[in-house]
Amino acid sequence: MRATHLCFIISALLLSLLRVRASTLELAKGFAATPDSSISSFQSFLVDPNGNFSFGFLRIQQSQLALAVLHAASSEPIWVANTSTTQWADSTTLIFNGSLILSNSKTGTHWSTRSEGDRLVLRNNSNLQIQKFEEGDTGPSIPWQSFDSPSNTLIENQNFTANMSLVNGAFSMKLGGNFIGLYTNFINQNQIYWKHTAMEAKASIIQGEGPIYARISPNGFLGTYQNEKAPVDVLPFNTFQRPTSGISLIRLESDGNLKSYYWNGSAWILDFTAITEDCELPNFCGQFAVCTPGNGCECLNNKTEYHRPGDCARHESQQGSIKSCTGHSIIRKTGVELPYKELMEFEKMGSLSECESDCERNCSCRGAVYNNGSGYCYRLEYEIGTLVGVGDEEKIGYFKVVGGEGRWEEGTGVCCWCGVGCGGWSCRGWDWCVWGVEGVEEEDEKREDGDGG
Ligand SMILES: *[C@@H]1O[C@H](CO)[C@@H](O)[C@H](O)[C@H]1NC(C)=O
Ligand SMILES: *[C@@H]1O[C@H](CO)[C@@H](O)[C@H](O)[C@H]1NC(C)=O
Ligand SMILES: *[C@@H]1O[C@H](CO)[C@@H](O)[C@H](O)[C@H]1NC(C)=O
Ligand SMILES: *[C@@H]1O[C@H](CO)[C@@H](O)[C@H](O)[C@H]1NC(C)=O
Ligand SMILES: *[C@@H]1O[C@H](CO)[C@@H](O)[C@H](O)[C@H]1NC(C)=O
Ligand SMILES: *[C@@H]1O[C@H](CO)[C@@H](O)[C@H](O)[C@H]1NC(C)=O
Ligand SMILES: *[C@@H]1O[C@H](CO)[C@@H](O)[C@H](O)[C@H]1NC(C)=O
Ligand SMILES: *[C@@H]1O[C@H](CO)[C@@H](O)[C@H](O)[C@H]1NC(C)=O
Ligand SMILES: *[C@@H]1O[C@H](CO)[C@@H](O)[C@H](O)[C@H]1NC(C)=O
Ligand SMILES: *[C@@H]1O[C@H](CO)[C@@H](O)[C@H](O)[C@H]1NC(C)=O
Repeated sequence: MRATHLCFIISALLLSLLRVRASTLELAKGFAATPDSSISSFQSFLVDPNGNFSFGFLRIQQSQLALAVLHAASSEPIWVANTSTTQWADSTTLIFNGSLILSNSKTGTHWSTRSEGDRLVLRNNSNLQIQKFEEGDTGPSIPWQSFDSPSNTLIENQNFTANMSLVNGAFSMKLGGNFIGLYTNFINQNQIYWKHTAMEAKASIIQGEGPIYARISPNGFLGTYQNEKAPVDVLPFNTFQRPTSGISLIRLESDGNLKSYYWNGSAWILDFTAITEDCELPNFCGQFAVCTPGNGCECLNNKTEYHRPGDCARHESQQGSIKSCTGHSIIRKTGVELPYKELMEFEKMGSLSECESDCERNCSCRGAVYNNGSGYCYRLEYEIGTLVGVGDEEKIGYFKVVGGEGRWEEGTGVCCWCGVGCGGWSCRGWDWCVWGVEGVEEEDEKREDGDGG
């Protein structure tokens, strides 16, 4: 009696598993789902034919919800829908009616593919596709696919084109005319901090022949192409020309680094690192900080103790006027340089004071770094991220900070209140100051989020 009972339960369980499994290879029009509060991490709706990848609701930090494609064995997100993360609430629904739509009955539509398709499938390369069938067609057309809107990850064989970007927080990766660039957004100002220019060894980039695109090859490199004939560049990974059995991906990390990994069957193995020295990252210690190789982080002002990124900026933005560009203080620091100075424009100037006063006069200049040896003056139009500490006392930084106390000399900026008798650029300066402080707070929040997860 007991055994029969158990047998019944087991077969019912198997049946339901099979049903789930069978129904998760594709989703048809009419599909609708809500978050299941009994699932603590990932609620799968769809798997790929090999069972390597899975698409569903990903729960982040108890209360937040994202729509993601995961690598099943490692639970690593490969793709995340570009929606501000949603609260994990019963009122959230995901529907497929030709478009995949994430909405909330209270707050409306959060995200939509705005497509007209017939079914949703997850391909064996992790590509989430909406397919449409028309009579007479040999295969389905693809009104939408996740490969066209990557998040922070590019997986093997996925094309990365000139109109795409990988994004992680304030960092992004984009293609230029003949290079791959990493950029950081320092409060609405993009600064390139890593650049890999195509070598054009096997093929040259020909003007007018279309934009370049990049793709990870199973042979252990990130190839850049203008057409399929030959790569215009090969960026080798450690496993270059030594094919691994597992899949490779490249990811823009939360610290702005670009890393490649391959799956060895049980772990993701690091295969390439764009920036090998932490201090060379654009914002490793947060804003208004100095990173000295082998010696860690410290704040630009000598008073704030550094514990974690954001500490130095918090002090700088606490006091003082944020509504005008007057009332700032100046911090000077010797033995510092910009981590990405090779990628920055500069102007040659005769002396440190010339470089400084040029910045002092100009409200949109937030700081300058001068090299007394070469005479190069690098101007910053944004609040400084992290500088690199160098032994060379000839490299001197000059930074305007909002806040600070007595010991620092008062700035004499010429900017004034928006609309009060200034040129057009000062209005920009005003906006900029407000943005600056908000940006710092946002950055802090992001860091906190990051630390928590
Ligand atoms: C995908 O699945 C196959 C077999 O099911 C396995 O050999 C392969 O390593 C998996 N790939 C990844 C990326 O997990
Ligand atoms: C995500 O969406 C925002 C706002 O619509 C857009 O500005 C941003 O570029 C998008 N990010 C990516 C990676 O497409
Ligand atoms: C899908 O649903 C959305 C929102 O309810 C609606 O705006 C859209 O027209 C629907 N699309 C189709 C093809 O029915
Ligand atoms: C993935 O799917 C394609 C066609 O959709 C097929 O040609 C290929 O062999 C599949 N790869 C694996 C590893 O299953
Ligand atoms: C990548 O682009 C090439 C050339 O346009 C194309 O042949 C290939 O099918 C694309 N791959 C994917 C996964 O879309
Ligand atoms: C992006 O560029 C590719 C070719 O590089 C093109 O096929 C595609 O339509 C473009 N997508 C958008 C949204 O512009
Ligand atoms: C994969 O890498 C991990 C971590 O380095 C290691 O412990 C494991 O043995 C490797 N697995 C295989 C199949 O090589
Ligand atoms: C910080 O201290 C060093 C010596 O310890 C000094 O040379 C430097 O001027 C100080 N910087 C500031 C901004 O007070
Ligand atoms: C201020 O600096 C910015 C950028 O360095 C420059 O574009 C602008 O022309 C300068 N304005 C004045 C008034 O010098
Ligand atoms: C800069 O260089 C000049 C001459 O090369 C020298 O006189 C001056 O002391 C140097 N200043 C600093 C701050 O190193």
